Amino acid sequence: MKITSVLVTGGAGFIGANLVRMLLKRDCKVTVFDNFSTGRYAYLEGLPVDIVEGDVLDRDLLIEVIRSHQSIIHLAAQTGVPGSLLDPYHDCEANVVGTLNVLEACRAAAKDSSATKMSQKIVFASSNAPLGRQIPPAAEDKAPLPVSPYGASKLAAEAYCLAYYGSWGLNTIVLRFGNVYGPFSEHKGSVVAEFFKAICNNNVITMHGDGAQTRDFVYVADLCRAVLLALDCNEAGEVFQIATGVETSINRLIEMVRDVSGRDTSIYKAPTRHGDVRKNYSMIVKAREILGWEPEVDLDLGLRKTYEWFVKKT
Ligand SMILES: NC(=O)c1ccc[n+]([C@@H]2O[C@H](COP(=O)([O-])OP(=O)(O)OC[C@H]3O[C@@H](n4cnc5c(N)ncnc54)[C@H](O)[C@@H]3O)[C@@H](O)[C@H]2O)c1
Repeated sequence: MKITSVLVTGGAGFIGANLVRMLLKRDCKVTVFDNFSTGRYAYLEGLPVDIVEGDVLDRDLLIEVIRSHQSIIHLAAQTGVPGSLLDPYHDCEANVVGTLNVLEACRAAAKDSSATKMSQKIVFASSNAPLGRQIPPAAEDKAPLPVSPYGASKLAAEAYCLAYYGSWGLNTIVLRFGNVYGPFSEHKGSVVAEFFKAICNNNVITMHGDGAQTRDFVYVADLCRAVLLALDCNEAGEVFQIATGVETSINRLIEMVRDVSGRDTSIYKAPTRHGDVRKNYSMIVKAREILGWEPEVDLDLGLRKTYEWFVKKT
């Protein structure tokens, strides 16, 4: 199926800014729905997209906007562990109630369009955070054991997506993203963005814990291709891990960002953060087999492309 009209909630954020550009290349008609709490107008400057400034907690506005779109990519969220520890209620409202509102708006649209049989595709941006204490590699069939409110809110939102498929046949797909990095991430507090900002601003790199903790870093263009494949596929009510399957320690990442930037920036060792998992990487067999997706950009190349973008920005 060729997708033509796509609503991207959170489309002014990091992943959104990259995804919107890929959707436009496919000649999609794109609407961004964003409250600009962390996203930036500047990331969308000059792009032929409709922008609706709104909050996913505004149910009426969502119902009005969602009904005219064939596909919904739901990225809008409170996006991190630290924010969820500071304000678990906000995290729950934005991530759980916000997602429920998107699903309810899709259910209303499905009722409206029962005559035309238009059935929307809904892709939900989840994370590995729901897996929490599970022993890696993260896999779709392991029981989630979240260790942060963020992990709990993403898990609850995943559950609603699956339940709306089970109860009303909504075409939901849940994608659990690994640690995403790439251009348009200047506002992010993720490790790659923080390290490159520190390097570009001649600051020290802050490393939490001993650096032996591991993550699965996926380049944003690869991730966005997976989202597009999820939009096009005939699957629904399914969860897919989208990462690389490669485990990289923060110590190794620091060596790599120093090499890519040619700068021997010094390190400040800060305490381990609560709610952070020790080891994390994902199995991606299901995405490979069912979505036909494969990550193409290795960490060295992805870091080079990302650093180039940060250098141009400063
Ligand atoms: N970046 C990663 O490594 C990563 C990893 C796993 C999952 N995710 C998920 O991917 C999605 C996008 O993340 P991102 O890294 O692009 O973050 P981001 O903060 O750059 O983007 C989030 C966007 O949502 C908007 N937003 C936030 N709350 C909103 C609300 N209540 N109503 C409307 N808009 C709202 C923000 O303004 C922003 O533009 C999120 O759901 C996040 O949890 C990201």
